[in-house]
Amino acid sequence: MSVALKRRAAEAAFAFIEPGMRLGLGTGSTAAEFVDLLGARVAAGLDVVGVPTSARTFAQATALGIRLTTLEETPDLDLTVDGADEIGPNLALIKGGGGALLREKIVAASSAGMVVIADASKTVAELGAFPLPIEVVPFGFASTLRRLERLVAELGLTADLRLRPGPASDPYLTDGGHWIVDASFRRIPDPSRLATALDATVGVVEHGLFLGFATAAVVARDDGVEVLRP
Ligand code: A5P
Repeated sequence: MSVALKRRAAEAAFAFIEPGMRLGLGTGSTAAEFVDLLGARVAAGLDVVGVPTSARTFAQATALGIRLTTLEETPDLDLTVDGADEIGPNLALIKGGGGALLREKIVAASSAGMVVIADASKTVAELGAFPLPIEVVPFGFASTLRRLERLVAELGLTADLRLRPGPASDPYLTDGGHWIVDASFRRIPDPSRLATALDATVGVVEHGLFLGFATAAVVARDDGVEVLRP
């Protein structure tokens, strides 16, 4: 999980970038390396425009002078570059460890392609060791949690409300004003089936299973960079 490997993956993602592109800008420590490098390229004359996936990325990109737009102005993007918490077979992803999954998924869904950047620790043979983030509406939370618990209880597992760091124990609040439940599945042998069940759970806004979004993954290891395809 070294910063050097994240930066190496971020650098290699520029093989996918062309002048004039409309870019989705991801969230998280690896995506932040990409945005940092993009800022330098923009300062050197690269003409692109970006849609940030979080308030954090908006602030970083603005500070670096990267030209930004919105999905209202620019509903079709060429490419999103984002990190992931896990990269499984067929480039199925778990995302949302940084809490930005809803905007990340909307931006990815608006993009013709999605390049995932990561160090090799993120690649897995089966998704699920990383707790799956599930974004829920605060209204009726106890009722939604019961439905989610029923879903995960079938597997004997737990779902926990994510809290803000610090002593207050307030719920973590997403950019969209929602809460996040982290569900420890340990193994997700059938991601599509779970995604369908979560999509049908009332009170769930979105979940961190990104299936069929990634068109490439740039994975950095100590001995070089590998590009994976679905
Ligand atoms: C943000 O909500 C996430 O989806 C991140 O993209 C993901 O958690 C990866 O973050 P890191 O690059 O910090 O590991």
